[in-house]
Amino acid sequence: MYIDATLGAAGHTREILKRGGKVLAIDRDPESTKYVAALHLKNLQVVNDNFSHIDNLVVEFGFTKVSGILFDLGVSTSQLEDAQRGFSFTKNGPLDMRMDPNLAVTAADIVNNFEKRRLSEIFQNFGNERLSRQLADAVFSARQVKKIESTEGLAQIAREVYAKSKVYTKLDPATKVFQALRIIVNSELLNLEEALPQTEKLLEKGGRLVIVSFHSLEDAIVKRFFKSSKSLKVLTKSPIGPTKEEIEKNRRSRSAKLRAAEKI
Ligand SMILES: C[S@@+](CC[C@H](N)C(=O)[O-])C[C@H]1O[C@@H](n2cnc3c(N)ncnc32)[C@H](O)[C@@H]1O
Repeated sequence: MYIDATLGAAGHTREILKRGGKVLAIDRDPESTKYVAALHLKNLQVVNDNFSHIDNLVVEFGFTKVSGILFDLGVSTSQLEDAQRGFSFTKNGPLDMRMDPNLAVTAADIVNNFEKRRLSEIFQNFGNERLSRQLADAVFSARQVKKIESTEGLAQIAREVYAKSKVYTKLDPATKVFQALRIIVNSELLNLEEALPQTEKLLEKGGRLVIVSFHSLEDAIVKRFFKSSKSLKVLTKSPIGPTKEEIEKNRRSRSAKLRAAEKI
């Protein structure tokens, strides 16, 4: 028995099923769970929920001691590519960014209502954005004139701030602001911090916990958790990154870091 805590389009789940595993697959995005449930794959239980409830879900669906738990964090390709979800600064759409459409607060709510200082803290702490103060100022000024409601609108503000500050970046200047807002809208770090300690008791002896993260804030949480755990043996001294071939095939994998541990 395995748990895929981040089902997405079921890429990982399908690989586990192919090898004879039985999978409890969780995703908080109903678009993901609806899509995969409609495939009627054998030995698969799909659940639309937050992985922060992982221990209750395991009881509810009768998955007792499991051989492996996988977290492939972040957004899925389909979430990123659908302009209407508002995750991408390269596709114009509503500034939404909710993985779960039942969440009350969108990215637009944050940029249009939070205090300037709070915005600057969010850009700094969750995006590691060096122009966080200037960006918060620019967002604040722009919203006095007109609400910021589109991804393109926010991305344009970030690009103008960088151009005005004469700061060169290889990344699109909107990258870090979008990351920071997405983390806050979806409480991504909190969910991970809540879920990880629950996994220890779900694994059978020799069972493995594998986590793929995409930015340093997530990776730091995983690293800290592994270090503090008394029942897990860490299998990855330093995180495993993608190979050159993987990056060529899938550019989004370039920032992936995999850490794994085994129940003792
Ligand atoms: C990178 S994608 C996973 C892709 C998947 N491994 C595949 O093979 O298609 C991450 C998925 O995790 C989901 N997700 C993120 N945070 C979650 C949470 N707290 N609870 C449940 N699902 C979450 C997202 O909605 C997204 O579909």
